[in-house]
Amino acid sequence: MSDFGQLVFSGVQPTGNLHLGNYLGAIKNWAALQQHYNCLFCVVDMHALTTSPEPKDLLRQTREVAAAFLAAGIDAEKHIVFNQSQVRQHAELAWVFNCIARMGWLARMTQFKDKTGKNSEKASVGLFAYPCLMAADILLYRAAYVPVGEDQKQHLELTRDIAAKFNADYAARIAELGAAIARPAGGAEAGTKVCDGFFPLPEPLMPPAAQRIMSLRDGTKKMSKSDSSDMSRINLTDNADDIAMKIRKAKTDSAPLPALVEELRARPEADNLVGIYAALTDKDKASTLAQFAGRDFSAFKPHLTEALVTKLVPIGEELRRLLKAPDYIDAVLAKGSARALPKAEATMKQVRNIVGFLPG
Ligand code: TRP
Repeated sequence: MSDFGQLVFSGVQPTGNLHLGNYLGAIKNWAALQQHYNCLFCVVDMHALTTSPEPKDLLRQTREVAAAFLAAGIDAEKHIVFNQSQVRQHAELAWVFNCIARMGWLARMTQFKDKTGKNSEKASVGLFAYPCLMAADILLYRAAYVPVGEDQKQHLELTRDIAAKFNADYAARIAELGAAIARPAGGAEAGTKVCDGFFPLPEPLMPPAAQRIMSLRDGTKKMSKSDSSDMSRINLTDNADDIAMKIRKAKTDSAPLPALVEELRARPEADNLVGIYAALTDKDKASTLAQFAGRDFSAFKPHLTEALVTKLVPIGEELRRLLKAPDYIDAVLAKGSARALPKAEATMKQVRNIVGFLPG
């Protein structure tokens, strides 16, 4: 990664078993992005701490997410695969951003409101300040693009607000330091956005057909690691028999598949299964329906199972193989972190200078 052209930063929290939703919603798209951009793939273990995990679970899940990246085809030689806590500059820049972001901005974050409800007094300060750490992740590397699903768009907008306020608050100092603030190489100058402040404003990169993967038991609920029923989700470690059984039992309605995508709207389970098939086979829903319109689910489900088995079983096998070699995964993360560190430090050095910390 010598030429830091257009840079993409992505993060996944190590908070639970990975499932089809994580794969189709994030990891599969990343594997495609790495063909076009220089990428940092980060296991955000510091974010996961906001869920108060058991230390041993956090460790295991950090390795699992890293292993899933590798199993899904992410190239840790060409790109940087690392975990957040090993690059201390993330925490350092997050503190500076805690002093830039306003309480009101963070209090408006829908994810915080959804997670805490009326109980925000009992929420940790970390959960409240979570978006400042996310902004630090992205801006530390001056990433041009961040692949995000719908649920993270608001956090990315906040990242832009933080970058813009930092640039504005320190505009005089940045101008005064002038050439001394050699902007560390990053994605954005090479990208489309011209930036005259210190931090560039990162852009979201939405997956082409953002497909939300829903529960197999209830097409109105997101597929989730926390659903009490394992039948509601396909785990990345499920074998072919598990997959076949879960799809056979997946909830549907009794009508055959429709001809038009609009007709899926009132049929959440049908919509979900068609969406999953489309995403797995790199088609859209329209062409999937063109193939299956008028057929019953009993005819469609075997095709869906086959697509799932073809895509997921090799990944699951590789994942299980890697999980038996935790030392290898740790070495990949250590190496990735060592490569991320000088890039993070280049930015942080300038930030210290801008805000008025002694260079040390
Ligand atoms: N907040 C993201 C999530 O819950 C994870 C994340 C942390 C992230 N830092 C990031 C995603 C930086 C993209 C870029 O999924």
